[in-house]
Amino acid sequence: MSHKILVLPGDGIGPEIVAEAVKLLEALRRSGELAVEIEHADIGGAGLDAAGSPLPEATLALARDADAIVFGAVGGPKWDSVERALRPEQGLLNLRAALGVFANLRPAIAYPQLAQASTLKPEVVSGLDIMIVRELTGGIYFGEPRGVRRLDDGQRQGFNTLVYSESEIERICRVAFELARKRASRVCSVDKSNVLEVSQLWREVAGRIGADYPDVALSHLYVDNASMQLVRDPRQFDVMVTSNMFGDILSDLAAMLTGSIGMLPSASMDAGGKGLYEPVHGSAPDIAGQNVANPLATILSVAMMLRYTLASPELAERVQAAVASVLEQGLRTRDIASSGTRLVGTREMGEAVLAAL
Ligand code: IPM
Ligand code: MG
Repeated sequence: MSHKILVLPGDGIGPEIVAEAVKLLEALRRSGELAVEIEHADIGGAGLDAAGSPLPEATLALARDADAIVFGAVGGPKWDSVERALRPEQGLLNLRAALGVFANLRPAIAYPQLAQASTLKPEVVSGLDIMIVRELTGGIYFGEPRGVRRLDDGQRQGFNTLVYSESEIERICRVAFELARKRASRVCSVDKSNVLEVSQLWREVAGRIGADYPDVALSHLYVDNASMQLVRDPRQFDVMVTSNMFGDILSDLAAMLTGSIGMLPSASMDAGGKGLYEPVHGSAPDIAGQNVANPLATILSVAMMLRYTLASPELAERVQAAVASVLEQGLRTRDIASSGTRLVGTREMGEAVLAAL
């Protein structure tokens, strides 16, 4: 059976980095190792320019039909002043919501070859292997009511709503506990239950689900402390589970532990294993079109796709090994460069991974 893959390059560096990941998929298809049909569509600013919407109808229809989606990045200064509903980021948020991909897996792994690239001391980050499980289709990103209203005194007031139902907390916690079982069997649930009712419910439900997993050690941290601990001693963590906005913030933080956000892949899954695969980094308009962006986060996102949606763990391992091998060879894009390594562009990096594969 052939898998349908939809490729959404998006804006900024999106098209360049996604192109390298697609080359890899095409190569696996040609060699007969992977049965895939690949289609492309517009999203974000590209969707807005081509079809008047950051998530054009045609793109959404293809996305619903696909088994997995490879996504680049959206956004850029060109669309910064458009109204919120039409912003490129809205295309991504609407896609996540429409597909119901509530479980966002963001692994942060310190490659030994990149120990010098982190701003933290090598002895603090070496061997780091964290999986951040971020709730992706709820919380303050989607809560209603939201908006900007006029107060009686004439000034404007912005407001958003942070809501989680028990079932939303339960399902994301289950994902975290299941993952932990295949790893170091530790889950840290991150909340702000010393202040927020929604976090009190989160903590209670996490504890209740945790009781179903006696073999997994559950701990709880407030998000401010969790940020501090991530920088102080990141290796204390195995799986971290948290809400949409806390996960957004903590995953950027965790990215820097590994040296560069250009290395961080992610998978966003629905209840049935369908997935949206995207690098954690954004569209980086300042370096777009210059052949300097790091394609490895997108390539590693494809490895996650091979593992989680296409059920090909061996191919996933090979892609990951190919990435480790190019790092071993000393090839570096600008974001991870250090002395004694060879600076390469986006395309050269992609080709090197392909060769190593
Ligand atoms: C991410 C990004 C997105 C988010 C933006 C682009 C909407 O920062 O995937 O982390 O906030 O979820
Ligand atoms: Mg983010």
